[in-house]
Amino acid sequence: MDGLFVAGTDTGAGKTFVAAALCRALRRAGIDVAGVKPFETGCDPNPADAEALEAEAHSGLPIDLRCPWRFRTPVAPAAAAARERPAIAHGTMFRAALAVARRAARERFAIVEAAGGLLVPIDGARTNLDLAAALGLPVLLVGKNALGTLNHCALSVEALRRRRVPILGLVLSRGLLPADASQRTNAEWARRMCCVPVIELPRTTTGRAAATLSRAFLADLPAIVRRGKRLPEEGEEARGRSRPPALRASAEPRSPRRERCPGGQPDRQSAGGNGRAGVSR
Ligand SMILES: Nc1ncnc2c1ncn2[C@@H]1O[C@H](COP(=O)(O)OP(=O)(O)OP(=O)(O)O)[C@@H](O)[C@H]1O
Ligand SMILES: [Mg+2]
Repeated sequence: MDGLFVAGTDTGAGKTFVAAALCRALRRAGIDVAGVKPFETGCDPNPADAEALEAEAHSGLPIDLRCPWRFRTPVAPAAAAARERPAIAHGTMFRAALAVARRAARERFAIVEAAGGLLVPIDGARTNLDLAAALGLPVLLVGKNALGTLNHCALSVEALRRRRVPILGLVLSRGLLPADASQRTNAEWARRMCCVPVIELPRTTTGRAAATLSRAFLADLPAIVRRGKRLPEEGEEARGRSRPPALRASAEPRSPRRERCPGGQPDRQSAGGNGRAGVSR
């Protein structure tokens, strides 16, 4: 499978904005891409996120193969399903979501967007984190660039590491948030606390965001896709040979010293686990 799982530290963090920009960047790089939103709530009745992703991805896939679970009530998927479709058998939603994402990722590069934050329940027993872990795709975490984000980012990264889910990086999006003093220092502190590449996105357009994310994360992606998900050899990343150049240039923490990682050692699985996309820190 090829793809990325775009997870959030919160709802409204900028996942759709980032995922749509990634779809645009990949498509412009000549890669067939699909934007998948397995669960969408707050549909009116159209699923706005799934439509925003498709507007950039141009996959042509029918909506049921991109967004199989659509609910009107703007609450967590598990809560919306309990209210709107209580007869759905346990496990059905999760299995169908997995199947749709896997199918999209077999034929195209799948950008899969979570519904809300990582530990939001998507059925009676599972969360977005369970979906990310079951898919085995690297996660791009999106957080708000605002006061309070460091705690949300650190907790999210810790949850991903506990489940050994590879983390591609963290995007801090200013989005439509008002200015606050933390925005000058959040990225640097997030690097030090989370030990992952951190990219700041100002309030911007999808086109500019696509260019920024390309430079940060996607420089090597066409090659990675073409050469069939070649993983870094043991020790290779430490010698710096397998790192995407753009990651080195723009996402490297300025002082990536291990003792500055209170959340634990940088996750080794990011570097070599299923490592479809390169990670540096
Ligand atoms: N860097 C940015 N520049 C401009 N607008 C942004 C940026 N980041 C986010 N936004 C805007 O902020 C709002 C919230 O972002 P978005 O819908 O992507 O969040 P989300 O995490 O997908 O939310 P949900 O949990 O509902 O899926 C949207 O109107 C989006 O267009
Ligand atoms: Mg969204």
